[in-house]
Amino acid sequence: MMVIGKLLSLLIAGLPAIVVAANGSGIADADVTTSNVVKLSAPDGSARATFVKTGATLTHFWVKDKHGKFRDIAIGFDNLTEYETAESGTLYFGPIVGRYANRIRNGKFTIPISKNASGSGKQFQVPKNTNNGSDTLHGGFDGYNTRTWEILARSTNSVTFTLVDPDGKEGFPGFVFNTATYTLEHDSNFKISLRAWATEKTPIMLSGHHFWNLEAYQESEDLLSHFVQFNSSRFVATDGKLIPTGELTSVENTPLDFRKAKSIGGSINDTAVAEYCGTGCVGFDNCWVYDNVEKTPIFSVWSTNSGIKLDITTNQPALQIYTCNGLDGTIPRKKEQGGPEATYGKHSCLVIEQESIIDAINNPEFGVNQIFGPERRYEWEAVYRFSRLT
Ligand SMILES: *[C@@H]1O[C@H](CO)[C@@H](O)[C@H](O)[C@H]1NC(C)=O
Ligand SMILES: *[C@@H]1O[C@H](CO)[C@@H](O)[C@H](O)[C@H]1NC(C)=O
Ligand SMILES: *[C@@H]1O[C@H](CO)[C@@H](O)[C@H](O)[C@H]1NC(C)=O
Ligand SMILES: *[C@@H]1O[C@H](CO)[C@@H](O)[C@H](O)[C@H]1NC(C)=O
Ligand SMILES: *[C@@H]1O[C@H](CO)[C@@H](O)[C@H](O)[C@H]1NC(C)=O
Ligand SMILES: *[C@@H]1O[C@H](CO)[C@@H](O)[C@H](O)[C@H]1NC(C)=O
Repeated sequence: MMVIGKLLSLLIAGLPAIVVAANGSGIADADVTTSNVVKLSAPDGSARATFVKTGATLTHFWVKDKHGKFRDIAIGFDNLTEYETAESGTLYFGPIVGRYANRIRNGKFTIPISKNASGSGKQFQVPKNTNNGSDTLHGGFDGYNTRTWEILARSTNSVTFTLVDPDGKEGFPGFVFNTATYTLEHDSNFKISLRAWATEKTPIMLSGHHFWNLEAYQESEDLLSHFVQFNSSRFVATDGKLIPTGELTSVENTPLDFRKAKSIGGSINDTAVAEYCGTGCVGFDNCWVYDNVEKTPIFSVWSTNSGIKLDITTNQPALQIYTCNGLDGTIPRKKEQGGPEATYGKHSCLVIEQESIIDAINNPEFGVNQIFGPERRYEWEAVYRFSRLT
């Protein structure tokens, strides 16, 4: 226990200054650390957000639209207890995903890594919870999204959740000490910092799995007025089960070219021909590699209906976009989004995950090092800047 305490304090020492500097003057409730719910608001009142401990999940996010009215643009449940159910775990509505986000071919990898885990390194097998039990998704059956994170620090505008992931849990080697810090800053800047430190060499890839509809479903139920722009000229080629083959494909002359701004909803049907999101699937569920990672990448999405614009900057080399292809209208929307009569429909929302290149632990040709350990800490940063179109 002493060792764990020491490791945890080392990790805390690496936390962003904002958390360490939190002076406690803003703590709203005496029982914050026992409550499952955390409510934050930006110092200038420009944004408000709610989180729960299960999965360190973002449940609500309010920013102002072009009329100056607040809208909750995060997809989720009004009833916060829903986040603790098994069904919610499989939806991944708003949590941090880990220890390894996205898919792992055959749930296998070696350390050091090798193509399709075929090398002579030490072999690991993790639970196969997707593709009918043939591959791993988001860290296995009990990924970070279903675990109860604890609150390490909080103020009126910032919270740090922490999770100790035990050695051997879901088949992964070594303890991992994680923190997820969410901070609301002036001018509706939303900062997310993820930190992890492992006691043994292990793959780590975390991400925020937040679902957005920048209109809060007030004007439409499709993504036709959602425009997207980011500089990526290559995406990760996958097989029909969304498992990377090891190739990167040019976006040129494909619906995956967002180098010039275009409607993402308007491009969804164009994905059908080549089944970019897997066999029989229409929509986006793809990983793009950012160009010019030396410069900070910027991902932009805005709705011409609500006038809400989101610009994300990150230290990550890639991103995954999912256009809610698997939602089928069975889950009631939140009240502010027209629910509970209206439901979350197919292609009505977007997940935007800043992360590393998917399944790079089975594809050494991607050239990214996703093995972390005592000598190498994991640091993930993103700033979500919300503004209004003029
Ligand atoms: C504590 O933080 C609040 C909000 O950031 C700030 O207004 C206040 O001046 C700080 N108090 C001290 C004693 O540093
Ligand atoms: C909230 O959700 C929980 C879990 O699904 C359920 O047991 C409870 O009845 C719900 N509460 C209300 C008021 O609907
Ligand atoms: C990796 O696995 C895929 C799918 O099973 C296969 O097509 C490919 O040939 C394998 N590559 C190597 C180098 O093992
Ligand atoms: C899973 O199995 C079902 C029933 O056998 C089949 O219809 C479906 O296509 C399979 N899905 C995948 C991703 O292999
Ligand atoms: C995409 O296809 C669906 C189903 O055929 C259709 O309802 C929808 O209008 C199409 N969307 C666009 C933008 O053409
Ligand atoms: C994206 O590409 C355009 C055109 O090449 C360039 O003007 C812009 O600076 C790039 N943006 C970023 C964030 O790299």
